[in-house]
Parts: sequence; structure tokens; C-alpha cells
Amino acid sequence: MTSLPLPAHHPALATADPELAALVGAEERLQADTLRLIPSENYVSRAVLEASGTVLQNKYSEGYAGRRYYEGQQNIDQVERLAIDRAKALFGADHANVQPYSGSPANLAVHLAFAEPGDTVMGMALPMGGHLTHGWGVSATGKWFRGVQYGVRRDTGLIDFDEVRDLALKERPRIIFCGGTALPRTIDFAAFAGIAHEAGAVLVADVAHIAGLVAGGAHPSPVPHADVVSTTTHKTLRGPRGAMLMCREEHAKAVDKAVFPGLQGGPHNQTTAAIAVALHEAAQPSFRDYAHQVVANAKVLAGELLTRGFDLVSGGTDNHLILMDLTSRDVPGKVAAKALDRAGIVVNYNTVPYDPRKPFDPSGIRIGTPSLTSRGLGTEHMAAVADWIDRGVTAARTGDEPALAAIRSEVADLMAAHPAPGIPA
Ligand SMILES: Cc1ncc(COP(=O)(O)O)c(C=O)c1O
Repeated sequence: MTSLPLPAHHPALATADPELAALVGAEERLQADTLRLIPSENYVSRAVLEASGTVLQNKYSEGYAGRRYYEGQQNIDQVERLAIDRAKALFGADHANVQPYSGSPANLAVHLAFAEPGDTVMGMALPMGGHLTHGWGVSATGKWFRGVQYGVRRDTGLIDFDEVRDLALKERPRIIFCGGTALPRTIDFAAFAGIAHEAGAVLVADVAHIAGLVAGGAHPSPVPHADVVSTTTHKTLRGPRGAMLMCREEHAKAVDKAVFPGLQGGPHNQTTAAIAVALHEAAQPSFRDYAHQVVANAKVLAGELLTRGFDLVSGGTDNHLILMDLTSRDVPGKVAAKALDRAGIVVNYNTVPYDPRKPFDPSGIRIGTPSLTSRGLGTEHMAAVADWIDRGVTAARTGDEPALAAIRSEVADLMAAHPAPGIPA
């Protein structure tokens, strides 16, 4: 293990724990040298990394600013207020809670705030592109609540709002979730709000994937329509691993009470600080450019993949994400994902709607453009990316390892020309 090079920019870590430091160094090289296409990942700035590694780590701060159960919160209160104010300003929300440890606890807090165990909650089915925490059976949200699920149409890959409305009026859920983890199309928040209103449900828009696009004006905002907006902070928003819940003033107390003391203890103050930094970055004009470039890149990449004969769920993308069905290429998603990994292209295998295969061995792969856009790649690079995927998928089917090695070297050359933010050379 210690034969790996030690990262010179972590001198204390390298001295105290060379084994761990070497692993961090290896991960930095991996992230620098590979084409990262996982749509839920990104590169945070050095400023976000620094904020998340500060002495704020050392504090306990149960409670909220001005109402803590611990003394010594003079600075922490200001850090948390800064993050809250920036979140409210960026998204135009009445209220923001920046304490959820991550997206899953944030969504569990929503259940705690608006439903009782055994109540019905409604969300998009996981294999259709929804998230586990929207009432799917294996999640606590599906075990402790009665999850009912909608999907997309088999013929279009799009949400059928007649089906959503019929289900909502029949089941009368306490909560309706919209948003998900493998949705390549714009979410119609107004349509969901109309249905939730009619059914007497609280509408929660989970924008974990698209929060950066919303902040940058490249996707419509859920804020005018949803009662609660749930988001992670580490995907397109390009912040640390964490989450936020935003809501109308009328729900502020319920949301805050559910997060603390309902579900969590002390907030991770170093993460709160890094969220504040990321929100500051996301408020800059350059972030608007970034968000629009993410979408432009994804649209061009989707077009290049279609030209090469790939099947894309819903026929393309409106956002940062593309869901590829590899059935017609005769390669299972997992085989393709592992081969592409050997070619220096990191994707994840994923179910496609109505997938006849199992979730651990599905028919598709899921790709996205947030990370490559953070490295400065533009639409002019998308033909090369599509070409590598095409050659990689073919090589996966034929077992052509030299072809994968050739792609890996081409990828490394392009990556070397576009340094990754946050990673010192
Ligand atoms: C839509 C959605 N909600 C919630 C989450 C959960 O976030 P976390 O992994 O931070 O718990 C994810 C993560 O992929 C997600 O895509």
C-alpha cells in the first residue's frame, strides 16, 4: 500500500498516516486521469474542500442558530446563518434547513414531518428512475410507510400525469415525491403541484440531481410549486456531501423539528461551511454558464450517441443525465460499465424502465455531464466521448482488452489537457 506516491499537499496526513495518505493520493490520480460520467458526481472547488476540512469539525452544535444546547457557538451560528441566507437567496425559498447529513436522511425527515408510520406516501418507482427514499420497499421509507409508486410510460419513457393523478386520488397519500435519480427529462413541478393539491398531499420536489441546474437557471425551479424542496448539495450543485430542505414558511417548524431533534444530533458544521461556500460559488455568473453548459453538453452527447445507434430512454435528455438501454447492443449494463471502467470511463450500470433484467445486473448504463463540464470540456468534445463509449461497449461485447487500453490512453490525454478542479497537479 505504502508504495503508492504520497500526496505532497497533505503533508500532515502523509506523516501521520502514510498508508491512508497514499490511498487519498491514488484517488486524486484516479479522479484526475479518468473521464467521470456518473451524473450524481462532480469536482468541488479547492475552496469547498478547504472549508470542509476546517476546525469547525471540532464543535457540537445541537439546535439551531441562537437556540443551541451548547455554548461557544458565536462563529458556528454565523456560519449556519450564512449558509441558510445564501440558500434562500439562491433558490428564492422562504426557509432553509442546511443540517441534514445527506439526501436520504433529508427525505426521511420529510416523512417524519408530514406523515405517521403506516401512512401512504407516493413516489416514482426506483426501477423507473425514482429514489429509494421515496417509499421504495427496501428503504425505511417503504417499510415504515405504505409506499405507492408511479412510473413512466413504456412507449415514451415519460411520466404519465393521468396515471399519477388517478393513483393520487385513489390512494390519497400524505406526501407525493417528484424527482428522482435517473430522470433525463424536465420535471413538470406545476403538474405535480396541481395533483398534490387535488389529493390533499404535501408535494416534495427532490431536486438532488438537478439543484445546480435550477440554481443556474438551466432547469425550471420547483420553489413556486412545491411545499418542500429536498436536495443533496454534492451533485450538480458542486458542494460537499450534504443536503438541504427548503420550504414555505408554514412548514418551517415541522421541517426543522423533524431534522433536529427528530432525526439527527449535532450538525456537521464543517459541511455547513462548505455548503455556504458552494452556494456562494453557485450565485456567481460563471455558475450560470456552467449549468447551461452541462445541459448543452448532455444534449450534444445524446445526439452523438443516437447517431451511433444507441437507444436512449425517452429518446434523449433535457438535463445533465442520459439513460442508455444497451439491449440492442447485446451487452448487459454491468459488463459495459466494467469494461468502460477499464477504459478510464467511469459510469454506473442502471435499470431502465420495464427492465427485464435484475437491478444488480440491469440492461442500462447511466451517464451525465456535470464532472466533465467542471473540467472545461465543451460540446466540441462530445463526439469523442460518444465515440469512446461506442468503442468501449463494442469491446465489452467482444472482450477486446487492447481496444479498451487504447481508449484509456486517449482519455488520459484529454484529461491531462483539462485539469480537474480541486485536485493539485
Ligand atoms: C433524487 C435523490 N434523492 C436522494 C438521494 C440520496 O442522497 P444521499 O446519497 O446523499 O443519501 C439521491 C442520491 O443519489 C438522489 O438521487
